[in-house]
Amino acid sequence: MAIYEINGGTPLNGSVVISGAKNAAVAILPAALLVKGRCRIENVPDISDVRILLSILSGMGAVIRTPEPGVVEMDCTDIRQTLPDPALVKKMRASYYLMGVLLGRFHHSHVALPGGCSFASRPIDQHIKGFKALGALVEEGNDYVAMNPGPHGLQGNRVSLDVVSVGATVNIMLAATLLPGRTVIENAAKEPHIVDLANFLNTMGADISGAGTDTVKIRGVASLQGGTYTIIPDQIEAGTYIAAVAATGGDVLVKNVIPKHMDCITSKLEEMGAQITNYDDSIRIVSNGRLNATTVKTRPYPGFPTDMQAQICVCMALAKGESRLTESVYETRFFGYCTELESMGAYIQIDGKTATVYGMEKLHGATVRARDLRAGAALVIAGLAASGTTRVENIHYVERGYERLIEKLTALGAKIHRVEE
Ligand code: EPU
Repeated sequence: MAIYEINGGTPLNGSVVISGAKNAAVAILPAALLVKGRCRIENVPDISDVRILLSILSGMGAVIRTPEPGVVEMDCTDIRQTLPDPALVKKMRASYYLMGVLLGRFHHSHVALPGGCSFASRPIDQHIKGFKALGALVEEGNDYVAMNPGPHGLQGNRVSLDVVSVGATVNIMLAATLLPGRTVIENAAKEPHIVDLANFLNTMGADISGAGTDTVKIRGVASLQGGTYTIIPDQIEAGTYIAAVAATGGDVLVKNVIPKHMDCITSKLEEMGAQITNYDDSIRIVSNGRLNATTVKTRPYPGFPTDMQAQICVCMALAKGESRLTESVYETRFFGYCTELESMGAYIQIDGKTATVYGMEKLHGATVRARDLRAGAALVIAGLAASGTTRVENIHYVERGYERLIEKLTALGAKIHRVEE
C-alpha cells in the first residue's frame, strides 16, 4: 500500500502544465471503437482509469500503440470480442460508455455494471431510458446490462433527460452516432467534455450539433473513418492546482488550460481574495493563503463543478469567517472527506445538502484516508497548507485522475513523497 507523506506549509511557486481531461479521455477512447480505421488521440492523460480502459479495449481486439507519452493510436477495425472483461469494467465508472458504443456499432451489448468512486448512489436509469428510446430491448441483471434490438430495430429518436446527466448524454451520443435517423437529446449536459466528445466524433465523420447547449442533435452516419484528435485540458485538474495555491499561498502559472472553462472556479477564488490573471491558454494565480469566506453551490456546467466541491471546501476551511457550501448534484459527497478535514483541525457542520465551514487560521497534519478521487485531492491540498506532516492513505483513488501529481507538486516546491508501506 502506498501513501502520500506531505510536510505542509511551503508556498507553491513556479509553473505547472495541465494534462488532458480525464472525463473527456474516458469517453473518447471508447468512442474510437465506433471507428473503422486508425485514430491518433493526443493529450491522453497517463492515469489509472485510462490504463484500465486501454486494457479493456485491447482485450476486445483493438490494436493500440502508444508511440510517445500522451499519444494513443488505436485501430478498432477488427473487434473479435464484444464482451468487455467484467473484472476490468467493475474497476472504473466510465466503462459504462461501452454499453452505448457496443449498441451503436454491433447492435447488441452485454456489459457488467461499472465500479468507480462511490461517494453517492449513482443510478444509470437515464442511460437506459436513452437506449430504450433508440429501440433497444434492455435486460438489467444484478451485475450487468444486456441489450438487443427491439421489434422495430434501432434508430434515432428524441430523448428528454429527466436529470442533467453527463454520463447519459455521452452514452446516448455514442449509441446514436451510427444509427439511422436523427436523435435529439433534450436537457443534455453541457460540460466541456461533452463538446470534446462531439468534436472527436465529428472529426471522424459523425454529424453532431448542439453539443455545449442543452439540446444535442445527432444525425446517424453509416461509418466513421480514422483521424487525429487532441483532447482538451482537464478543467478539474487545473482547478485543483489553483485551489492548492489559493489555500497554501504562492504564485503559480497554470499552463495548458482553456480559461473560459475555468471561469466558474476562478471567479469564486477571486471573490475569496486570490489574484487571478487569465492569458490565452494559461492562468496565473497569486495568493497569500489567507482567504475570505464565501458561498458556493455546485451545479452542472457552467455552474461550479461538484468535482471541485472538496477542494474549495479546504479553501473555505482556511478562510476568514463562515462559508456555505451547497451540493446540488451528489448530496452525500461531503461524507467522503469532511471528517478527515476535521481531524486536521477544520470545523464543518453538515445539514443535508449544505455544509457550513468555519474558517480556521491553520490546519495541522494528521493521518487521513481518501475515500474517492476528489476527496483525496482535497486532502492533499489540506496537507500542503497544514503545518506538520500529513499522511494520505488510499491514494489509488487519487491516481485514478491526476497524472504525475507528485512530480508536478514537487516542481512547485511542495514537500510531498509517495511512500510504499
Ligand atoms: N443521475 C441519475 N440517473 C442517471 C444518471 C445520473 O439520476 O441515469 C443523477 C446522478 O445521481 C447525479 C446527477 O444525475 O445526481 C449527475 O450525474 P451524472 O450522470 O452527470 O454523473 P456521471 O456521468 O456519473 C460524471 C463525471 C463525474 C462528475 C459528474 C458530475 C465522468 C466519467 N464522471 O459522472 O466525475 O462528478 O459527471 O459532473 O465523466 C470525477 O471526475 O471525480 C467524477 C466523479
